Amino acid sequence: MYIKLDKLNIPRSKTGKELIGTREMAAFFTSSRSCVYLGMLICVLGYQAASSSAQDVSSLSLSYYDKRCPTAQQIVRKEMDCAVRNNPRNAAAMLRLHFHDCFVQGCDGSVLLDDTVTQVGEKTAYQNLNSLIGFDLVDRIKNQLEGECPGVVSCADLLAIGARDAVLLVGGPYWDVPVGRKDSKTVSLDLANTDLPAPNQNLVTLVSNFLGKGLSVQDMVALLGSHTIGLARCVNFRDRIYGDFEITSHNDLTSQAYLSKLQSSCPESSHDNNLSPLDYVSPNVFDNVFYESVLKGQGLLNSDQELYSSLVGFETSDLVKTYAADPLIFFQHFSDAMVKMGNITNPEGGEVRKNCRFINS
Ligand code: HEM
Ligand SMILES: *[C@@H]1O[C@H](CO)[C@@H](O)[C@H](O)[C@H]1NC(C)=O
Repeated sequence: MYIKLDKLNIPRSKTGKELIGTREMAAFFTSSRSCVYLGMLICVLGYQAASSSAQDVSSLSLSYYDKRCPTAQQIVRKEMDCAVRNNPRNAAAMLRLHFHDCFVQGCDGSVLLDDTVTQVGEKTAYQNLNSLIGFDLVDRIKNQLEGECPGVVSCADLLAIGARDAVLLVGGPYWDVPVGRKDSKTVSLDLANTDLPAPNQNLVTLVSNFLGKGLSVQDMVALLGSHTIGLARCVNFRDRIYGDFEITSHNDLTSQAYLSKLQSSCPESSHDNNLSPLDYVSPNVFDNVFYESVLKGQGLLNSDQELYSSLVGFETSDLVKTYAADPLIFFQHFSDAMVKMGNITNPEGGEVRKNCRFINS
């Protein structure tokens, strides 16, 4: 298969960033079973860095690898492209890994560390255990990067670039990723347990968590649009579907059918690990349908629905309405918020790990 990407009309936003947001594009990206190396794709999408607003991100910069490892971005893109083509869930996996990395000690690759005799990792934290996936994909990308530029590209940057590519490859926006992060030499299971948000927390708790990370209410609502892709386990939405789902949704035929489908795959007890899409309308496409569903009272997680249905959610419910009505504003706010989230640093500094699972000895 040979795809002429120069023939595709890539929409541009006012800021000049690419906004590859159409469902057609996404279907296009994920339709093929086989993994074809798309040289053109990389040329078109990989080298758009120069144009967009290069706000100063203190230690991070857009050009950090330009001389140190010029092909870093292409390597990540190629592997992500193959992985997402193979299974779109890989996009969700990479996006969530970056989020869970940044919320614990900053974006420092700590989430990737395995348990060892001397150090307990974050993989067994409540929100991570039996839940986070994508570690093999990270290993695969890291191997490629080490082959090309040994000891240069950090695991934390791998996640940041990989998350951006993930979003782009399933139809979401493009943004330039500031890089130059270091990988931590430490890890904290305790912080992972306290700092990662949980689906049954109320809106005030969630908002204060994000504010504590330097992220605004707008950032939080936009970032939660990530739940337009990926899957959740029954244990995480049981309280919701046996709780206020019926009250928040308009109790129309579609909502009733959706709810009974959810309840049949997620009984009141047992089957904790049964999976359902976070966005049942378009589970593999990065679009704004998540907000439309929340607007209809059909959010899957309590935390998702809180954005609109919480009694104190004036600002958040306005944002839900805005994003449901305008995908381009959502894409713009999402991109901005991802750059901000990726900017959470670990003041300890660190190293460039050779293997993302272990600190260098
Ligand atoms: C209020 C904050 C958030 C809460 C409470 C939350 C909670 C959850 C839960 C419970 C799941 C399902 C996990 C499972 O059942 O195993 C999930 C999945 C997911 N979350 Fe969030 N999340 C939040 C914010 C975010 C943010 C900020 C991002 C990304 C920037 C994100 C990206 C994802 C993705 C992509 C998935 C699907 C993962 C997969 O399919 O493997 N979430 N989230
Ligand atoms: C990133 O963080 C630095 C401080 O660490 C700050 O000066 C800068 O404004 C931040 N950039 C963004 C886009 O949030």
